[in-house]
Amino acid sequence: MRQWLASAVVTVLAGGCMGTDDTSSTIAEERGPRFITLGADALGTAQEVLAARVPGARLAPIAVKNDIALVEFDAQDFVALSEAMHEQHHRCSGFLRHGSLDEGQEALAAPERPVAALTYSIDNGATVNVLMSELRASSILATIKDLSGFKNRFFRSTTGADASNFIAQRWRALAAGRPDVKVTQVKHADFNQQSVILEIPGTTLASEVVVLGAHMDSIAAGGSNSTAPGADDDASGIATLTEIVHALMVKDYHPLRTIHVMAYAAEEVGLVGSQAIVDDYKARNVNVVGVMQLDMTNFVGSDRDIWLMQDFTNPGQNTFVENLIDKYTGATRGTDSCGYGCSDHASWHEAGFPASMPFESRFDDFNGTIHTPGDTLEVSDNNADHAVKFARLGVAFAAELAKGKVDTSNELLREEFETAGWTATGLWHRATSSKCGPPGFSSPTHAMYFGQDATCNFNTGARVSGTMTSPSIGGLTSASTLRFRFFRDVQKTNISTNDVVRVSVIEGTNRTVVFSRSSKTDSQPRWLLSDAISLAAFAGKTIQLRFEFDSITANNNAFTGWMVDDVVVTH
Ligand code: BES
Ligand code: ZN
Repeated sequence: MRQWLASAVVTVLAGGCMGTDDTSSTIAEERGPRFITLGADALGTAQEVLAARVPGARLAPIAVKNDIALVEFDAQDFVALSEAMHEQHHRCSGFLRHGSLDEGQEALAAPERPVAALTYSIDNGATVNVLMSELRASSILATIKDLSGFKNRFFRSTTGADASNFIAQRWRALAAGRPDVKVTQVKHADFNQQSVILEIPGTTLASEVVVLGAHMDSIAAGGSNSTAPGADDDASGIATLTEIVHALMVKDYHPLRTIHVMAYAAEEVGLVGSQAIVDDYKARNVNVVGVMQLDMTNFVGSDRDIWLMQDFTNPGQNTFVENLIDKYTGATRGTDSCGYGCSDHASWHEAGFPASMPFESRFDDFNGTIHTPGDTLEVSDNNADHAVKFARLGVAFAAELAKGKVDTSNELLREEFETAGWTATGLWHRATSSKCGPPGFSSPTHAMYFGQDATCNFNTGARVSGTMTSPSIGGLTSASTLRFRFFRDVQKTNISTNDVVRVSVIEGTNRTVVFSRSSKTDSQPRWLLSDAISLAAFAGKTIQLRFEFDSITANNNAFTGWMVDDVVVTH
């Protein structure tokens, strides 16, 4: 079934909605009855548009299902309808066009394909936690910068094709140590931007496929010549996927079900890339058991973090995704709807595959810079903290739907502080679901915190200091490393002796500092992953790790302090 969204044929609408530059003239002249689907709540708008041209004319819905209405509508009113939908419902076009009445009805029915009976379960937490501990906001940020550095990623432009090659290359590099993982570029008819698919073969249920996707193209007025950074729409989604791939690869993850990670071409002109892929998968009877679409993940627009779109998605899978959000992400959530097939999940949904679309804000609060040269990282304050929540969700979706395991055989110690174990003095304690730091520690419920939960600072009126010390760790080799995640917020001055944090290795009576920061080293309001610190000097020895905080003075202590999580020592 072929479908077009009307925005693909309208040149420019107010507020950042636009379509391709090359088809608009023909469609503007098009006339005659057509079949479209739109949100049932927008029927009044369509009625008004019709009555404006034919006074007294009545629009009769042919069918309504799941709040979507199928109506006959004259093509000559498409432009007016797009504009009215944008003005009244803040939707970009907001309706789908179908080739015939049959296709419209088919779209409305969205017949469920017989998929393998799949009961959702959440029981692979150890794997999810290990994978999540590899996610870095800094790397998502860097990828958004890379992608928004292309002048545009328009489906017909050279830079749009370059962006596809860039993504393919990046994903190939991430999979370099995994000969079983394939990265392919999918050619499309009529334009040069290729979709990219990375495949991780399943071990025991290989015929069942889990899809995670985002779209690579961007759009703005001017088409091929435009400046369309698309930092949020949808470099954020591709960057989130890329970081998910990094985590899966670096931990040598082997799913039971097959995973396909997709960067779709030509979404902005009517879901063209994803539609071609879905047609192909359907024709080949590929058993896709679940799809997650990440389109816009990095703009904070609403009072809750993750919004699950209810239309063009599968209710059963959405409930599963809600449970994943609650168990793994530390994020808040809500539900909303686009009101039309607003992204590539709709291509899958309409073909009967279970799809979900977690979105960065309420629909009404959407990032108003999209589809303009202003869709840059500045709009997201030059950080990728919001997108990390979606990366956590994506990792959880992959590892709880495709199941399977990571390889942690090179880990000598992994401490997520989910149970007590280390000795702590001073303000060090095991915090539970602390609201003092930003969300982002990888084992969501616990982290060690030097600070006070009630005030979220280390201000007691006196100098404060304390240590937390690991049990003995043996078996170190010349390849051993230490890594941990931390959030540090202290006074910012030029005094290197204030608010000192240190990590030391204790070996017998020797103490060696392997990591240190002070007020002079700017703290950052986000969780960071430390470098891999070599422990080669301690090969063959038995050691303890000690994390130490000292405010040195009694003043300027109204800062959050230090949180530590996911301490990993490798062989
Ligand atoms: N990322 C947007 C969809 C979106 C925008 C979702 C705002 C929620 C809030 C997507 O890339 C897009 O622009 N889609 C088109 C429709 C598509 C079928 C051409 C749109 O919304 O006009
Ligand atoms: Zn998008």
